[in-house]
Amino acid sequence: MKVARDTVLENAWSRTENRFDVRRIREDFPILKRRVHGRPLVYLDNAATSQKPQVVIDALTRYYAEENSNIHRGVHFLSEQATNAYESARAKARDFINAKEAREIIFVRGTTEGINLVAQSYGGKFVRKGDEIVISAMEHHSNIVPWQMLCEQVGAKLRVIPINPEGELLVDEYKAVLNKRTKLVSVAHVSNALGTINPVKEIIEIAHAWNVPVLVDGAQAAPHLTVDVQDLDCDFYAFSGHKLYGPTGIGILYGKERWLEAMPPYQGGGDMISLVTFEKTHYNVLPFKFEAGTPHIAGGIGLGSAIDYLRAIGMDAIAAHERELLAYGTTALSAIKGLRIIGTAKEKAGVISFVLDGAHPHDIGTILDQQGVAIRAGHHCAMPVMQRFALPATARASFAMYNTQEEIDLLVEAIDKVIEVFG
Ligand code: ALA
Repeated sequence: MKVARDTVLENAWSRTENRFDVRRIREDFPILKRRVHGRPLVYLDNAATSQKPQVVIDALTRYYAEENSNIHRGVHFLSEQATNAYESARAKARDFINAKEAREIIFVRGTTEGINLVAQSYGGKFVRKGDEIVISAMEHHSNIVPWQMLCEQVGAKLRVIPINPEGELLVDEYKAVLNKRTKLVSVAHVSNALGTINPVKEIIEIAHAWNVPVLVDGAQAAPHLTVDVQDLDCDFYAFSGHKLYGPTGIGILYGKERWLEAMPPYQGGGDMISLVTFEKTHYNVLPFKFEAGTPHIAGGIGLGSAIDYLRAIGMDAIAAHERELLAYGTTALSAIKGLRIIGTAKEKAGVISFVLDGAHPHDIGTILDQQGVAIRAGHHCAMPVMQRFALPATARASFAMYNTQEEIDLLVEAIDKVIEVFG
């Protein structure tokens, strides 16, 4: 299995020299060979979760077949090997987002848990009655509900930055919302429902002028853009492994050391302690203070392998390919009569949300599925975005590095079928 992994990585490396080669990349993803309802799979639901390259699947199998053991605890060979593999994945994640220290990288279940951790730990310590938390009108539920829960617990208030009809955050309105009661700003880097890329660096700079820390929900950004947390100067950054070609159930919360040091543990249990008596418990150092219990070891290792894979291809090359797909897809879909794209920001990632006259998004999704085209239809866990645009739902195609213009042509053909059916 080691040979297989090295071969795939070598292929990926040689691709860097030979430019981005989407055909070869597709060969690394076994699921893309599947047929669905007798047709070749056209997978355009990458904002929900992305497919996994063989190298990640192999890393998971290899861990369970050859290294399975608990980490940070054993003195035996396997435990040491598993610990090294897990900690080396942490180092890869540090490098991937350019964090200063590996201890600023907390393994969590995903973006949702990362945000909940900050809401409960930072919020529990620093947010009081009358304080305010600022989010935007384009947030995913996972960047709304944890803050509502916190506000309810402590008597704080949630403030929402409005967006314009294109789906762009209104920076002047944002500036007007900040005040001396603001305790945290939490915004998406990229909107899952609209595709908008937010000017997070500017948002952070503005908040910092008020000494307010900023959490960036990077779930839809980390798989598609180069993320440099030191350059952004964000205080927290959360992303999920499963959208980044890695396993489900694993993700990263980055936090600046000074915040993580000041924050209490999120959960209690094994690994997060240095000494326990019935009178008092002393907590472990970072990052372990935030990692109670046996973690998703295989997931962490698999995520490390996904990061290796992405870096071998190059985030800039991936972003450039996806920009081309977005431009091609936007032109193609805009030409369809009766179709309206929701989310037309100047800065967008590879997400096209749309509605079609006379057809409910769920019907669009079903008819597309019958033709082998997988998209998401619904509110995309962002009901307030739907309310903002006065829609019950949208259909959403979202791209990944392995998608092609031919697949977008198939999407257009499939939409034509929907129009035929619904007249
Ligand atoms: N948040 C994921 C999506 O946008 C599940 O589909």
